[in-house]
Amino acid sequence: LDAKDAIRNADAVFIAVGTPSRRGDGHADLSYVYAAAKEIAEHMDGFTVVVTKSTVPVGTGDEVEEIIRKTNPNAKFAVVSNPEFLREGAAISDFKRPDRVVVGTDNEEARERMRELYRPLFINETPILFTERRTSELIKYAANAFLAVKITFINEMADLCEKVGANVQDVSKGIGLDNRIGKKFLHAGPGYGGSCFPKDTLALTKTANDHGSPVRIVDTVVQVNEARKKAMADRVIKAMGGSVKGKTIGVLGLAFKPNTDDMRDAPSLDIIPALQAAGARVKAYDPESMHEAGKILAGVDFCDGPYHAVDGADAMVLITEWDQFRALDFDRVKKLLKSPVVVDLRNVYQPSDMQRRGFNYTSVGRP
Ligand code: UGA
Repeated sequence: LDAKDAIRNADAVFIAVGTPSRRGDGHADLSYVYAAAKEIAEHMDGFTVVVTKSTVPVGTGDEVEEIIRKTNPNAKFAVVSNPEFLREGAAISDFKRPDRVVVGTDNEEARERMRELYRPLFINETPILFTERRTSELIKYAANAFLAVKITFINEMADLCEKVGANVQDVSKGIGLDNRIGKKFLHAGPGYGGSCFPKDTLALTKTANDHGSPVRIVDTVVQVNEARKKAMADRVIKAMGGSVKGKTIGVLGLAFKPNTDDMRDAPSLDIIPALQAAGARVKAYDPESMHEAGKILAGVDFCDGPYHAVDGADAMVLITEWDQFRALDFDRVKKLLKSPVVVDLRNVYQPSDMQRRGFNYTSVGRP
């Protein structure tokens, strides 16, 4: 089927296009959503449920409805908000086993179609929450912003742990075992990145300001996270004795997280140029993202594997916790490194183990 036939024959059409940050002001760019709405309006036939899966600011459903009505005044339709909560690299399992499905509409027939569509998940007892459309739109931003708050909170706790001699991993466990807090998204690291949290937290603050109801916690999280990504290079420089001028650094992991080649807002994009600006030569390896990284990062020597990246380097810096980096042969790493300095920005290795092996080891928020 081409798009036209697909739309004509459909009971429900899903809009799942991206909503990147608009250049200049950080609002979500809705041009792709609106273009899709127009195309759907031109071809829809019979009662059609138009489902917005894209992450869109509150009120976008009203706009989509308006565009469809203007383009095709005779169309019979309902616009539904059905945000997606899939993670990159885990989308299929997240889709099959979601924590919940959120459906925002006050149209009874649309609700029934959505219920029917998600019936296989219903059988798995996935909760399906029916809400007003605007509420559903806000739930998506609130969820991403809350997760960003959790990460940023534990990152600041990690900094505090370093000052007071506490262990952030145990703090995470100690608070996460409280069901009211929950243990997920409490891993301290170099700051969150990716195509969602940075864009969505920013867009939420913009919407909130536009409505005269600022979300100050999220505002602060955006700032703290930006500053954190930048501060990571200083942490590396400190671990290397205060200067990296003329030194070589072997970086493991470039993508914003493992199991993706996505480099959008990846912490590596702040860390590597700052190290280069301080006079370091950077060698790097990532199992998936080197092709993408090569388009954005200048002057990096991309390597064939982790051992190649650390060969002859003055330090190894782990930025993304790919599984293959968890099981490195550290005797080999030690032989290859010029000096045994390891900076682990994801707390993958055990400090006592690394010390025993004779590494000068720095991680995040652990003694
Ligand atoms: C995120 C949400 O988790 C999904 O639920 C949502 O559907 C998606 O955005 C979206 O809006 O489309 P994603 O961006 O794929 O998914 O990545 P996450 O796994 O959430 O990780 C985001 C960032 O937070 C990464 O940089 C990761 O390293 C960091 N993170 C995550 C931490 O630093 N600590 C943690 O404990 C968890």
